[in-house]
Amino acid sequence: MKFLVINGSNLNLLGIREPDIYGKATYKDLVDMISLHAKEKGVEVSFVQSNHEGDLVDAIGQAYFDKVDGIIINPGAYTHTSIAIMDAVKAVSIPTVEVHISKVDEREDFRQISYIRKAAVKTIAGFGFEGYTMAMDFLVEMLGEKA
Ligand code: DQA
Repeated sequence: MKFLVINGSNLNLLGIREPDIYGKATYKDLVDMISLHAKEKGVEVSFVQSNHEGDLVDAIGQAYFDKVDGIIINPGAYTHTSIAIMDAVKAVSIPTVEVHISKVDEREDFRQISYIRKAAVKTIAGFGFEGYTMAMDFLVEMLGEKA
């Protein structure tokens, strides 16, 4: 199984940005943690991080040609604005889990809208970095049942 983990805007600044909300661990720590989990699960994983909406759309489109089985995505603030990212996920029809480090549901009103949620098979929010490994476990189970 092949997974792609996509992180959007400002997630390269993990560890620096609002540590009271997002924690003190860095983006590299996140990549290392997910890579280790993937190894334990025996799955392949690759990573994309960009602050540019179009790059995220391109990465989702490319996932189709790379025959990716599942996508784990935290679009950052693009969660709340991007119809293009939602459309890209719908276009490729690759099972996608939406992840948020923070409890978005308990934060500002403008964070209550999620476009990506409409295209995702599941949303995991408020579990910190662990949300990404939970997403991977969910996809492994879901895709295993389908096979
Ligand atoms: C976030 C929540 C978003 O509202 C915010 O814009 C982010 C990070 C999260 O992981 O909790 O950049 O997606």
